[in-house]
Amino acid sequence: MMLALSFPCNKGYSLLESRVPNAGFNRKANSMAARTIPVDPFDLVIFGGTGDLARRKILPSLFRRLKAGQMPKQARVIGCARSKMTRKAYQDQIRAALEEFISDPEERPEDLVETFLGGLDYVTLDVTDDEGWKQLQGKLRDDAVRAFYLSVGPSLFGPIARRLAEFDLATPESRIVVEKPLGHDLESAKALNTELAACFNEDQIYRIDHYLGKETVQNLMALRFANALFEPLWNAHHVDHVQITVAETVGVEGRGGYYDKSGAMRDMVQNHLMQLLCLTAMEPPAHFDPDAVRDEKLKVIRALDPVPLKDTVRGQYRANGSTGGYLEHVGNPDSMTESYVALKVQISNWRWAGTPFYLRTGKKLRSRMSEIAVIFKEVPHSIFPEVSERKRNALIIRLQPNEGITLRMTIKDPGPGGMRLTEVPLDMSFADALGPADVTDAYERLVMDVIRGNQTLFMRGDEVEAAWAWTDEILGRWEESRERPQPYDPGGSGPEDALGLMHRDGRRWREVET
Ligand code: BG6
Repeated sequence: MMLALSFPCNKGYSLLESRVPNAGFNRKANSMAARTIPVDPFDLVIFGGTGDLARRKILPSLFRRLKAGQMPKQARVIGCARSKMTRKAYQDQIRAALEEFISDPEERPEDLVETFLGGLDYVTLDVTDDEGWKQLQGKLRDDAVRAFYLSVGPSLFGPIARRLAEFDLATPESRIVVEKPLGHDLESAKALNTELAACFNEDQIYRIDHYLGKETVQNLMALRFANALFEPLWNAHHVDHVQITVAETVGVEGRGGYYDKSGAMRDMVQNHLMQLLCLTAMEPPAHFDPDAVRDEKLKVIRALDPVPLKDTVRGQYRANGSTGGYLEHVGNPDSMTESYVALKVQISNWRWAGTPFYLRTGKKLRSRMSEIAVIFKEVPHSIFPEVSERKRNALIIRLQPNEGITLRMTIKDPGPGGMRLTEVPLDMSFADALGPADVTDAYERLVMDVIRGNQTLFMRGDEVEAAWAWTDEILGRWEESRERPQPYDPGGSGPEDALGLMHRDGRRWREVET
């Protein structure tokens, strides 16, 4: 029986493998046990506790962790917001959120919902008003892990951090969690880091990039550093180029005000695509510990060449019939903001010099698809001269949908008719291999890591600043050029110039399809 296999311990690793006969054949049971290691009891304060992120992601994720046996029943979650509300009204609001965002009733048994809501409290709190802070003070326990999740606009990060210090709520062990936008450029990112550093040490600050919590993103590290197969090939001698794609079908979806000031470069490239690039390109860290991993990522960012204008493409989705285009969606007919970016990026170090990384991301594209494709070089000499188009091996790491890994191989086309070659995928979908429940939401993992005190999947301040320094140069070039983003059709694969970016190098993008 699976439950009997779980072995609660609080060390962040599972003792299961040595205890279960045939553990190697019992992968589902094994991973199930790994998820049931409970964290220490905690008090998690969510500023912006009534907001969209809290309702849509943070609280449903916590509920799932309670259900999985990882969030202990003694854990408490305290929502804080300006609205005047009783604890009961807040609990009702969150009950509705669970019903909305965990739609399958079987996924949220009533007794567990009650337990979850029983650990939920609410404080009406305005940053400037002392009353709420005093109330919050009275609710926190000295003997529990303490974490503050700032699910609020970035202009409040500094003021909340200061108030936490002022009211002695920020103990040396407590943690603060912030999420993008972590600045708008290098200067503002530095200012934010300084504000946080005034009240918290770096090892208390958890900067979320939710892409780092995605199953496949972590699997990229496992794939690279737990297998002997790839590392000898993982360099400019063997890799022709790398393509990183994050394609979305959605438009700006009611976030026009924010998005039009950010654009795809700030919203996606500076953080999510940069993290994917770092994990793909970094050297093997000496240990799997937060600073060893983050040091290596930082080295990649610092080795990025400035990107010349000719290696950048910006696009803006145009109107399609009555649905309106980007300009209508953000309500700014003169907007020069991009909803699509493609870049050719060079990394100046021994491992990657000469192997470009092509990055692209955009809204209103044909499919929702995120992947990293490592395209290997051709064989040095083909013994099959009649084969006109030589096939290249490719390793595709799919983040979404259908998370998994595919290795594209060349084999002989079966049957008679001579030596014809064909391509076949060696396909591994995580859901097929491990069962759908094994693919946890990024926030589930990240919030539990905050409680465990593991910063490996969080960005360090210097990493964020280095990413901004590189991004700012590109943004600066665009501003100087005064060129408008190229219009592209919604439902397509992006602007024409993005195809050109590859074609001129004799390469082509993989299809945007699922
Ligand atoms: C967010 C961006 O960080 O990531 C959004 O602000 C984007 O614009 C989203 O849609 C994409 O995340 P995911 O997990 O859906 O790929």
